[in-house]
Amino acid sequence: MANSKLALLGGTPAIPGPLRGFQSMGEDEVAAASEVIRGGVLSAYIGAPGPGFMGGPKVQQFETEAAQYFGVKHAIAVNSWTSGLIAAVGAIGLEPGDEVITSPWTMAATATAILHWNGIPIFADIDLTTFNICPESVKKLITNKTKAIFAVDIFGQTADMASLREIATRHGLKLLCDTAQSPGAKTGGVYTGTLADIGGFSLNYHKHIHCGEGGVLVTNDDWLAKRLCLIRNHAEAVVRSDDPRELSNMLGFNFRMGEIEAAIASVQLRKLEGRILSRQRIAAELNQSLAGLTGLKTPKVADGATHVYYVYGMTLDTELVGVSRARLVDALRAEGVPALVVGYQNLHLLPLFRNKIAYGTKGFPWNSPYCTSDVTYGPGLCPTAEKLHNETFLGINICMNELPPEDVALIVDAFHKVWGQLDQLKA
Ligand SMILES: Cc1ncc(COP(=O)(O)O)c(C=O)c1O
Repeated sequence: MANSKLALLGGTPAIPGPLRGFQSMGEDEVAAASEVIRGGVLSAYIGAPGPGFMGGPKVQQFETEAAQYFGVKHAIAVNSWTSGLIAAVGAIGLEPGDEVITSPWTMAATATAILHWNGIPIFADIDLTTFNICPESVKKLITNKTKAIFAVDIFGQTADMASLREIATRHGLKLLCDTAQSPGAKTGGVYTGTLADIGGFSLNYHKHIHCGEGGVLVTNDDWLAKRLCLIRNHAEAVVRSDDPRELSNMLGFNFRMGEIEAAIASVQLRKLEGRILSRQRIAAELNQSLAGLTGLKTPKVADGATHVYYVYGMTLDTELVGVSRARLVDALRAEGVPALVVGYQNLHLLPLFRNKIAYGTKGFPWNSPYCTSDVTYGPGLCPTAEKLHNETFLGINICMNELPPEDVALIVDAFHKVWGQLDQLKA
């Protein structure tokens, strides 16, 4: 067989050179940004009561379009999704010491948003096939201090929101969802994010659609929407009530999106559907061609759901393959496979959590009188997530490259070449 010697062992790579990077911006975005710059008003926000409180025309236009697209009452633009997460946790009225159950497989900002309000993140284990928070694990962690469940749609497919909603309703909890990676994904025909009390999307550079940095919150709840808008823009300067319910968590933030970002975000929103279809096409091609490889499981999409493939997430049965993940990854990388994701971070193992050092050095908020549970973080807390990270998860960050069919075919060739020569790797 020509070209059968693995590149790792001195053969010629299956993929001859770097694959074309994903180009997210076009002339429409250039025109939209230029119009704002020529107008001279790059942000129209004022952090005080009055017409400027809700932002400028491009921000409000983007919000209207996003609310329409996602079929939700309120879309609220923010300057990053991290800001959106912090606003969401504040808006539900978290009290210091309240516990919020979340997933260890997410970007750190989901959990640190809880800490920003002196809440206590509690990590539930994840599902072996969808990598999303496992409702059975959530159930076991509920205490009288639990205030909310914070699900995450990791890699582009929604968490099991029906089960999580049922648990939340039974225990009187709020249900938030970090849907940063899943804009446009649906379950039961409904857009993810809108199934939570508050959801929302990141508009950072690597997401399906972006405006450099940004985010957009979605909610059907008028009270929460009002609080989100307040937290976004120096609420303490605006709230005129003495009612503790109105005043709680109304601390001064500036989470405001600028007019250039909003104008670009509007253009990008119109491209979302096409980008999702393109990712789904790439995933279908990979599914079809990789499905037969021994010990490799391609992504599983939950019944009734759609996946928008921020990451194409697979699992390995390394005993069946007969080669460790590390060795396989070295071989795939040598063949030129781009953007491999080897494991995913387990937040409960980050030094911040293991050492419980967040505010200052003395263990606040865990050691405060408000935190009444004995919370510890460390290995063994989320065994499924840990095994996936340490041994069995393998993803492709398909958001990084354009991946027309001929490039997907090259990736497929590289996988087949490696799987066809596993003996060389065992030696
Ligand atoms: C799941 C998740 N949550 C939160 C964030 C933070 O979003 P941003 O970078 O827009 O602040 C990201 C971004 O990568 C993410 O993927």
